[in-house]
Amino acid sequence: MKSKPFHTERFFAIHEFTAPHILCASDCESLTVDELLQLAGASWESLGRLRLGYTESQGAPALRERIAALYTSASADQIVGLGAPEEGIFITLHALLEPDDEVIVLTPCYDSLVNVAEHLGCRVVRWSLVEADEPPAGPGGWRLDLDALEQAVTPRTKLVIVNFPHNPTGYLPSRDEWRAIVRIVERSGAWLFSDEMYRGLEHDLAARLPSGCDLYERAVTLAGLSKTYGLPGLRAGWLALQDRSLQERIMGWKDYTTICASAPAEVLAQIALQVGDKLAERNRRIIQGNLALAEPFFARWQTVFRWNRPQAGSVAFVGLRTQSAREFSDRLVAERGVLLLPSTGLGFGDGHVRFGLGRLDFPAGLEQLDRYLIEKAQ
Ligand SMILES: Cc1ncc(COP(=O)(O)O)c(C=O)c1O
Repeated sequence: MKSKPFHTERFFAIHEFTAPHILCASDCESLTVDELLQLAGASWESLGRLRLGYTESQGAPALRERIAALYTSASADQIVGLGAPEEGIFITLHALLEPDDEVIVLTPCYDSLVNVAEHLGCRVVRWSLVEADEPPAGPGGWRLDLDALEQAVTPRTKLVIVNFPHNPTGYLPSRDEWRAIVRIVERSGAWLFSDEMYRGLEHDLAARLPSGCDLYERAVTLAGLSKTYGLPGLRAGWLALQDRSLQERIMGWKDYTTICASAPAEVLAQIALQVGDKLAERNRRIIQGNLALAEPFFARWQTVFRWNRPQAGSVAFVGLRTQSAREFSDRLVAERGVLLLPSTGLGFGDGHVRFGLGRLDFPAGLEQLDRYLIEKAQ
């Protein structure tokens, strides 16, 4: 079977390790192992003593205990540790879906949330976030169309896939909206896949939503250490779900992908979760600092960009008023070494670029972009 191109990952594969300024990363600033150990007051000994054998397929019990504490409904045996967060999308959708199943996906989205269901021969309905013409018209300039979801869901709907805080818009529903989404899915009896990779990066902490798996017994929550905690190189992620039978089927697919997680990653993940709150707080602070620079920048360049302030997460999806996003991004990285992700890669037209707000290099990248725009305006 031929795979659909994974545009986001192919785009990063070309530029991520060569462009001097990655201004569109979705992950937050990462740490060295030394910095992580120091923050947690842990020593290299815990790693030195580690035997590099296979690990438990479901994940180390102590790690699953720690993860389960993040949810109200889950105990350690309802957590499935992953070889990488991305694996959770692949194995859950393989466990749930058959050809011709109807699947509704919130878009724009991270490619695999839509592509895996299409690979499996499902009928995928895109439920699109709506951009107001001119902010402010609703928080962040983006809004959810709940009526459209209500109309899209039918008794044939097998699965609804959402991602909040949302990549790429930074949209976060209100609690009422979130409960309304769950109610609509629940009424239809469909499953809910809730990608919560950016949970914990709410710009107003009081706005944090309950996890999908705590609200609905047919929900699967995906989370991990890549974004909120800034540790994507660990490849640590997990699923939390209440349904035992689905869990078994998911584990069945895991035997075909990674079998079990990497042993050093599991140890470091446990250490990271001991200081999870500190890591998330550090990254929220970086995002707030970068937002404070982004606001005046976009106010200055209103003729070029339509700024949509995100409410949560580490990314913003910014409109380009007149130019092709693809051409703008290509020229910017070639001429200035600054990388922005064009919306073409996210299957959402050619009019937006994604900015990443979680990196310490953001001010330098933004300054380069500023100079580039000044030069072009002359
Ligand atoms: C919404 C979303 N889900 C899942 C993933 C996969 O995470 P990872 O790359 O750590 O496997 C990403 C990565 O960008 C993402 O943005």
